[in-house]
Amino acid sequence: MRRIEIEPAFESWRRAARRLLAEGAAPDGLVWSDALEPEQELLPGLSPAPVVGEEEPAAAGFRVPRRFVELARAVACHRDPDRWGHLYRVLWRLGRLRQGEPGLLEDEVDDDVRRLLLMEKAVRRDSHKMKAFVRFRQVCDEAGELYVAWHRPDHRIVERVAPFFAERFGVQRWSILTPDGSAHWDGGELRIGPGLPRAAAPEEDQLEDLWRTYYASIFNPARIKLKAMRAEMPVRHWATLPETRLIPDLLQAAPGRVEAMIEAAQRPQARDYFPPANPSLPSLATAAQTCRACPLFEKATQAVFGEGPAQARLVLVGEQPGDQEDLAGRPFVGPAGQVLEEALAEVGIAREEVYLTNAVKHFKWEPRGKRRLHQTPTLGEAAACRPWLEAELAAIRPEAIVCLGSTAARALLGGQIRISRQRGEVFEGTPWAPWVLATWHPSALLRMPDESLQAEARRQFVADLRKAAERLRGSVSQGRTGASALTNTALPSPGA
Ligand code: URA
Repeated sequence: MRRIEIEPAFESWRRAARRLLAEGAAPDGLVWSDALEPEQELLPGLSPAPVVGEEEPAAAGFRVPRRFVELARAVACHRDPDRWGHLYRVLWRLGRLRQGEPGLLEDEVDDDVRRLLLMEKAVRRDSHKMKAFVRFRQVCDEAGELYVAWHRPDHRIVERVAPFFAERFGVQRWSILTPDGSAHWDGGELRIGPGLPRAAAPEEDQLEDLWRTYYASIFNPARIKLKAMRAEMPVRHWATLPETRLIPDLLQAAPGRVEAMIEAAQRPQARDYFPPANPSLPSLATAAQTCRACPLFEKATQAVFGEGPAQARLVLVGEQPGDQEDLAGRPFVGPAGQVLEEALAEVGIAREEVYLTNAVKHFKWEPRGKRRLHQTPTLGEAAACRPWLEAELAAIRPEAIVCLGSTAARALLGGQIRISRQRGEVFEGTPWAPWVLATWHPSALLRMPDESLQAEARRQFVADLRKAAERLRGSVSQGRTGASALTNTALPSPGA
C-alpha cells in the first residue's frame, strides 16, 4: 500500500491526483490521509504541476467533466478522511473508462458516485447554515471598526463560504474564525488563515441586543415546531447566536401569547359596531360608546369621540383622552387642551373652527395611589381604534390634518415616522386629506425636563401650527374655499 498524505485542500488533492493518474496508480493501492505539512515533502518525487482542470487535459490525456470538478471542490471540504480516496476512485474510473463511462456521474445508484453526492449535499447544507448562522460581534482595533464571528461548521467550509460574506459585507472589515480555518476581509482582499479557538472571538456587544430584539419580534408563538427549529438552527450553533438565549423564555411565554392572539382574532372589530352606510359624525359618536374592539373600554368611563364642525377644513388628531377628557367625554379639555388652545389662538385659529379628535378613543391608564396615570396605547390598540378615526375623516373630508404626537402620526403616516426629525414636514396626497403635517403633542411640551427645552419645543409647535394655518389661508386666497377661513362651507358634509 502506498501512503499519500496531502494538505487537506482541493488544490493539493488535484495536484497529487494528476500525478498519480499519470503514473497509472490504481486507487486500490493507495491510502490517502490529511497532513498538516505541505504535500511536496510528503510526496517525494512529485513536484507541483498543473493538474486536472476544468479546461485542461489531464495527464492521462482525458478531459475531466466540469461537473466532477464542481463535485470534487465541495467534497474536498467534507470532514470524512476517506474523501480523497473516494474522489480519486471516481476520477480513475472516469479516466480509465474515458469514452466508456461518460454518464458515470449521472449514475446516482453507483456506490462511488452516491457517496460523493451525499458528501456534496452535506457540505452544501453546512454552507447554507454558515451563511444563516454566523453572527458578527463588533470590536475596535487600531484600524477602526472590525466585525468578528466565531462559528463551528460541521465541515471545512470557511474558505468556500467566505466569498459570500465578502460580497454581502464588502464595505466592512470582518473576520470569521472556525476551528479549522479563518477568513479575513479588509474591505478589498480576502485572506484565509489558520483555525482559531472560540476564545479568540469577542463575546458580547451592542449588536447582540439588536439581534435579540429582531428575533423576539419575528418569533411567532403559534408556529412553534421544536423539531424543525432544532433541524434548521442546530443546537450546536445556539451558543454563538445571541437570539437563542431568548428561546426558553419565548417558548415558556408562547402558550399565553397564543391565547392572546386567539382572543384578539376572535374579538370583534371596530367596524362591527359602526352604524349602517354613510354614517354621520353624531351617529358614529353614539356607536363608539358600544365599541369592544380592544380591552381599553373596560377601564375607561366612556369613549371620547371627536368634536367640531363637520365642515372643518382642518382636523387635529391627538393620542387618546386623558383623565379629565375621560370624565368630561370631550377631547382636549385638560391641561394639554389648554396648551393647544393657546397655541392655536397665537396663529389665529379658534378652537371652534377645527375638528379635534384622538387616534384612540378610550383613556388608557393605571392606578398610582388615588391618581389615574396615563399609559401610552400600544400599536395594536391604536390599530384597533383606527377605523373610528378613518370614519371621522371620511365624514369630514378635511383639507389638512395635523397629527399631535407620534401615536397620531403613526396611525396616519406609518410606523416609521419620527416627530423629533420629521415634525413640520408636509406629507401630501394621503388617503384622508390632501396633506398631513405632524408636530409635538401638547403634553410633550408640559413634560420637557427644563424651561429652555420647553420654550424651544413650544416655539416649534407654534411654528408648525402657523405653517398649517398659512397653507390653508393660502388656498383660501387662491379662491378654493368659501366663507370661513378654516370651515369649509363650500364642501358638502356627507351625512352631517
Ligand atoms: N391628550 C390627547 O391626546 N387628547 C386629549 O383629548 C387630551 C390629552
